[in-house]
Amino acid sequence: MKLLEEKIRQDGRVIGTEVLKVDNFLNHQIDPKLMQAMGNEFAQLFKGQQIDKVLTVESSGIAPAVFTALALDVPMVFARKKKSLTLSDENYTADVFSFTKQETNHIIVDKRFLTAGERILLIDDFLANGQAVEGMLEIARAASVDVVGVGIVIEKTFQKGRAILDEKGIHVESLARIAAFEDGQVIFAD
Ligand code: G4P
Ligand code: NA
Ligand code: NA
Repeated sequence: MKLLEEKIRQDGRVIGTEVLKVDNFLNHQIDPKLMQAMGNEFAQLFKGQQIDKVLTVESSGIAPAVFTALALDVPMVFARKKKSLTLSDENYTADVFSFTKQETNHIIVDKRFLTAGERILLIDDFLANGQAVEGMLEIARAASVDVVGVGIVIEKTFQKGRAILDEKGIHVESLARIAAFEDGQVIFAD
């Protein structure tokens, strides 16, 4: 998506060789018009699929997910994060290890918000090692919902997340694909 690539070029800050800081439009301050354009783009990319609900993980997945849900005219649910596991019959939970932060979060969705047989689109801000998406897939499995696909705002093709999802045969659409960071510059794939 050209608009997003331009925004990354303009406002993104490369940290070392693996991390892109985009806290002025995606991870802290939010650019609503860009989020809306991205939501419309995801809806377009997955059109033709029946989608009943959008699922993401707090906090940075929420903005793109809500605009995607708006464009699809369906509800959006976000998994909540907790440091300690709250075992409950009323929740689906999964462990998500963050390589960036070197900590494990438990992600939690109330059972009332996923119904067996529903068709779900997963959205997230970054695809790096794929842990967050794997956590959502685990919850989807436990809830017996069907995952239609995964929409990612920024994919880093040099980390292992994409390969994991491709191996599972999951339909992945990324709005920007980054092949590498070189000398503080973003190298886009394709
Ligand atoms: P994963 O998201 O593929 O599982 O990879 P990883 O474990 O590395 O990601 C941990 C956290 O770091 C996630 O946010 C993820 O979105 C974020 N992240 C990964 N790579 C980058 C990057 O290059 N730049 C930025 N800005 N973030 C990155 P989180 O812990 O879930 O935090 P939140 O922002 O959603 O609250
Ligand atoms: Na994030
Ligand atoms: Na995230």
